[in-house]
Amino acid sequence: MEKMSEKRVVLLSTTLLLLIPLVVCDLSDYTGMTADDQQVFDLINQYRTETANVSALAFNKAAGCVAHEVAFKFKDNPCTNSTGANTLYGKEQIPDYVNILKTCDVSLDNVKGSQIQPNCLPSGLAPGSGPTVAARNITMDSGYQEYLNDSSYKSGGVGSVGSWYVLALATDQPDGNFGSTPGSLGTTNGQDPLHVSFFTFCGLLVLWIFAAF
Ligand SMILES: *[C@@H]1O[C@H](CO)[C@@H](O)[C@H](O)[C@H]1NC(C)=O
Ligand SMILES: *[C@@H]1O[C@H](CO)[C@@H](O)[C@H](O)[C@H]1NC(C)=O
Ligand SMILES: *[C@@H]1O[C@H](CO)[C@@H](O)[C@H](O)[C@H]1NC(C)=O
Ligand SMILES: *[C@@H]1O[C@H](CO)[C@@H](O)[C@H](O)[C@H]1NC(C)=O
Repeated sequence: MEKMSEKRVVLLSTTLLLLIPLVVCDLSDYTGMTADDQQVFDLINQYRTETANVSALAFNKAAGCVAHEVAFKFKDNPCTNSTGANTLYGKEQIPDYVNILKTCDVSLDNVKGSQIQPNCLPSGLAPGSGPTVAARNITMDSGYQEYLNDSSYKSGGVGSVGSWYVLALATDQPDGNFGSTPGSLGTTNGQDPLHVSFFTFCGLLVLWIFAAF
């Protein structure tokens, strides 16, 4: 009996220990916009095509990743006066920006011509209304409009955590495309090589865990 439970404890703690890196693998892997983010993104594109008469933004996965990470950094900030019940355009400093870019495999040289704008929602909104309020705040504010009306932004992404919604706008130029290599061309990001090695690593980990039992 005693021996049995001891064995179980060992088994359980080994399993937990082995699971830790798996969870880490999962968290650092940005898979795309949530349904809420997509709704805000679609409404912004509706503004672009119907009101501003510029082309809809394509989804840029690296920009979405950065937007998500920025929202995550802001998540514990209350929507105070200084951040705005609805954030005043351009009043936010992004903390830990260099590490955010690293997480998303984006080079600093590839974001200089981009725009990243956090927006905070007031509390007490009706459940489920967050995305529409965020989109309305973003599209009705003249600070944001200056960029939303600009046809040089070709792609982007929305990320949100709690009350914070973040819009990242990318150009198709090397200095604003959220690419991973300085001077890289094209609108896509260079996340894929990282992902491949990441998935290989996580896959091997799973195999190893199965082998261990
Ligand atoms: C929308 O933009 C296109 C291309 O720039 C232009 O030809 C057209 O006149 C514009 N339409 C309106 C309603 O401004
Ligand atoms: C909050 O905003 C009001 C109105 O704009 C202003 O008078 C007040 O000084 C602000 N308070 C803080 C702490 O910034
Ligand atoms: C943002 O949303 C809040 C809540 O609906 C509203 O009171 C505020 O006026 C909005 N701000 C802008 C700039 O539209
Ligand atoms: C953006 O474009 C819309 C539609 O043309 C216009 O009403 C609005 O004033 C523009 N905003 C800015 C800041 O230029």
